[in-house]
Amino acid sequence: MTGPGPAKPPPPESGDSDGGTTRERLAELARRRALLSRPEDSRAVERQHAKGKLTARERIEALLDRGSFVELDALARHRSHNFGLERDRPLGDGVITGYGTVDGRRVCLFAQDFTVFGGSLGEVFGEKVVKVMDFALRTGAPIIGINDSGGARIQEGVVALALYSELGKRHVDASGVVPQISLMTGPCAGGAVYAPAMTDFVVMVDGISHMFVTGPEVLRTVTGQSVDRETLGGARVHNTVSGDAHYLAADEKDAFAYVRQLLGYLPSNNMEDPPVHHDPGWTDATSAADLALDRLIPDDRNQPYDMLSLVQTVLDDGELLEVQPLFARNMICGFGRVEGRSVGVVANQPAVMAGALDIDASEKAARFIRTCDAFHVPLLTFVDVPGFIPALEQERSGIIRRGAKLFYAYAEATVPMVTVVTRKAYGGGYGVMGSKHQGVDVNLAWPTAEIAVMGGESAVGVLHRRALEASDDPDAERERLRAAYDKALCNPYMAAERGYVDMVIMPHETRRQTAAALRALRDKRVTRSPRKHGNIPL
Ligand code: HXC
Repeated sequence: MTGPGPAKPPPPESGDSDGGTTRERLAELARRRALLSRPEDSRAVERQHAKGKLTARERIEALLDRGSFVELDALARHRSHNFGLERDRPLGDGVITGYGTVDGRRVCLFAQDFTVFGGSLGEVFGEKVVKVMDFALRTGAPIIGINDSGGARIQEGVVALALYSELGKRHVDASGVVPQISLMTGPCAGGAVYAPAMTDFVVMVDGISHMFVTGPEVLRTVTGQSVDRETLGGARVHNTVSGDAHYLAADEKDAFAYVRQLLGYLPSNNMEDPPVHHDPGWTDATSAADLALDRLIPDDRNQPYDMLSLVQTVLDDGELLEVQPLFARNMICGFGRVEGRSVGVVANQPAVMAGALDIDASEKAARFIRTCDAFHVPLLTFVDVPGFIPALEQERSGIIRRGAKLFYAYAEATVPMVTVVTRKAYGGGYGVMGSKHQGVDVNLAWPTAEIAVMGGESAVGVLHRRALEASDDPDAERERLRAAYDKALCNPYMAAERGYVDMVIMPHETRRQTAAALRALRDKRVTRSPRKHGNIPL
């Protein structure tokens, strides 16, 4: 990689090469290539570095396997004559496109160059991105977009909008066909955020990434509201509050490492299975970590515990790559491997909000389930859920419609699915969290499972309110009624009698039994009735 050198002479016009001998023609290409290998504008590169940002070329080099990148359309230039643009026609037009490999597997990518017209998308820029996306779709390769852009190039008017829409259409066409990952590495606005929003994963970098439909300037002009970039659309906000991002990277290096890891769990396209690791850290022998699960559930059923310790025990080498780890922390979603094969983990987290479901948790899990299903990643669900959270603001924000997405996602998924109930599976929580009735293949429960309409305290309050009011000793009576309810209904055996639970297992058997179930389900095939598409509540 060349460092920022002196500003370069303007690139030659296409008609500047007027033939000559073969030797002269080859020399002409060498001259043009030399122009490409150096950054366009040394001052712009310095500005980029001063902001703690890498240049587009440095990013590609850091993301891909060394020396694997093949650039396309490096000689493309815009044809616009508006607002003096005709005097500035940089090679590449502000975006680098091409293909290369990540861990030896081919990917296609585009990297927006903020040093050229703020990375804004004009006609030629857009055509280049559309072309590499079409290439990815034809060849079944994941698409990685490195975004650092002010959105539609203002000087090019409607043409810029048209090309952004073409690009968005490609993202939709590619959805569920090839994995699509967006890296946000600068102040991204307008189309530079709408388009990534349609991709499977959005990765932001702390401090340097911002995403907004309209930036702080426009917001202040239109509404008079004054907010800084970080508050409006910083990486932390989108990872913790809006849920628009899936990972908060500490720096660009961390972002590239996350993307490379993500790709390792996914197939290159929907016609392939995810890659298999042939040296899995998996053993049949019961480990100390397995045995520790027998002590995971506290005797007090309202006491929290960390579901991650179960998840990590079940996965090879204890490795879970979380997706949206900072958003809706009452729900854990992430990728891991069992016997070297990818699984998607969905788990309630009783250590946060008692694991209750709310809008954010439902949407987080629903989206993740659909991503796994699209790319043949089996689902492993761990349940400890007291139900949907009772809250006025949640009802008014549409928890009915938005919580229904979770039910829908499980019910339409056709990948192998295994569910383990560790403790509570109450009411709606039982219904939507990978129950047998949603089409889950293997349902396991621990002896500590409580599969019921609600917990004992709530049930006694509803069923025996009058008896309790009339009682001389309501506390003792409540306790007696609760114990009777728990014995009759708060256990896994009523569900097991009916086959809603296939097996009640000791906690220490979980790793072996989930692996056995996933092994048995490897050749699962489901045929659906033909239809155009379902209509998930959006
Ligand atoms: C042309 C642009 C540009 C744009 C930035 N630049 N955005 N040029 N079109 N959209 C240029 C600037 O003029 C400047 O040029 C250089 O890029 C760097 O920009 P700065 O503003 O100096 O950088 P910074 O302070 O970091 O601010 C970045 C920014 C801001 C927050 C992105 O530039 C901004 O708000 N831009 C406009 C965002 C926007 O509203 N875009 C249109 C969205 S509409 P010089 O020559 O001074 O270096 C859209 C619709 C798509 O995208 C529809 C899809 C269906």
